[in-house]
Amino acid sequence: MIVKEIQIAAYLFASILFILSLGGLSSQESAKRGVFYGIVGMFIAIIATVLGKEVAGHVYIISAIAVASVIGILLARKVEMTSMPQLVAILHSFVGLAAVLVGFGSYLDPSTQTIIGAEHTIHLVEVYIGIFIGAITFTGSIIAWGKLEGKVRSKPLLYPGRHAVNIILAITCVVMGILFTTATASEGMIYLYIMTAIACFIGIMLVMAIGGADMPVVVSMLNSYSGWAASAAGFMLGNDLLIVTGALVGSSGAILSIIMCKAMNRSFLSVIFGGFGDVAVGTAQAIEGEVTSLDHEAVAGLLKEAKSIVIVPGYGMAVAKAQYPIYEMVQCLRKEGKLVRFAIHPVAGRLPGHMNVLLAEANVPYDIVLEMDEINEDMPDTDVVMVIGANDVVNPGAQDDPSSPIYGMPVIEAWKAQTVIVMKRSMAVGYAGVENPLFYKPNTEMLYGDAKESVEKILGHLKK
Ligand code: TAP
Repeated sequence: MIVKEIQIAAYLFASILFILSLGGLSSQESAKRGVFYGIVGMFIAIIATVLGKEVAGHVYIISAIAVASVIGILLARKVEMTSMPQLVAILHSFVGLAAVLVGFGSYLDPSTQTIIGAEHTIHLVEVYIGIFIGAITFTGSIIAWGKLEGKVRSKPLLYPGRHAVNIILAITCVVMGILFTTATASEGMIYLYIMTAIACFIGIMLVMAIGGADMPVVVSMLNSYSGWAASAAGFMLGNDLLIVTGALVGSSGAILSIIMCKAMNRSFLSVIFGGFGDVAVGTAQAIEGEVTSLDHEAVAGLLKEAKSIVIVPGYGMAVAKAQYPIYEMVQCLRKEGKLVRFAIHPVAGRLPGHMNVLLAEANVPYDIVLEMDEINEDMPDTDVVMVIGANDVVNPGAQDDPSSPIYGMPVIEAWKAQTVIVMKRSMAVGYAGVENPLFYKPNTEMLYGDAKESVEKILGHLKK
């Protein structure tokens, strides 16, 4: 057991470590350090909480932590990098569910029944809001997991009058909230049940209404919701560290969502309200042109002649784990005096910073990894662009086809280069489910096959 003062000091120290952790995660160079601060902070937080005076039943708690840790370690070791967003989404759902359970537990806790006056009302409001946010996060995250895993269709589910239905449900929740806070202890439960059911439904419908292309924002938005749910749980439990940590996650998730919206040229409100006024206009444009392809030797020939080369990686690079041979190829080309750089789209892959993490894993130097905005203006002076497992992020329809679901999203303007080589296995669409006119452009050549195998074969020809 530790005294309250030591616990407060430990919480303060853990909070500082969490802030340092977030700061560290904002750049690739300091990301590992950031993760380390987070781990130490969480370790201190758990120890300080479990050893707190008010905590009993240590055997159960330690057993639960042991079992959960084993499950966590096994899951994290097993999960493929490409499935990370699904894992994150399902973990968010646990935070939401935890907030719901804490809310019900806190309401039923006999010690809270004796509170009176304004303090009682404040406690009930905390319970109500905590369960509301938690339930939305819980079901919304499950649907997000389903969409990312391909178990739920990624097309937005938009039914007529859905905004009216959402508004009616929100008003019903407010009314239930008023009845809940004014009800006697035995009556309150029914209002909580009704609100929880409605919030679960809202969570499902909010995420169902969001199209595949907007999923990156949804994942970071649910991250933010899970933070607020944790913060609400902190209020209910009277745990300062949980309030601070939840607020950190909630606000950083909200900032990330806004950054992602800007990157995709989407309105933040339109995304969080499920595609409000966000409907593509007109009929789909017919794609003109013919698809032509090359073999590995011909691609190696083009690279040998090129002076400046830009590589645009996408989700397919992650699937194929092609980052290692790609970097080997880059080293080979740089030895020949060629300017080789990577162009990273903010939503390439399936999670924020996905491509940066993979390239860092393969030891690609940061100074040749450029953001979309930094490299787009160099495209007309680029000899060869290699699009490796990317699709939506190089779709010109985002600029010139108002009927496209990704219309308005800034993209990497690969087609402006002299030659574009698109490396993928087939003509299949990307995550947003839209055709890509880039493949039909006269200066585009397809190179079919698994990205890793293709790069290895090109490398073989380059070394000859
Ligand atoms: P996508 O548009 O999803 O395209 C990836 C392409 O990779 C596919 O067309 C696929 O074509 C190809 N591919 C798959 N496996 C491959 C392999 N083994 N070898 C070679 N190619 C392979 O990817 P993107 O351009 O990176 O765009 C990301 C998309 O995901 C955007 O729509 C974005 O909104 C969405 N999204 C992003 C995030 C975040 S936060 N980054 C989160 C959720 C969703 P084949 O099947 O023909 O090979």
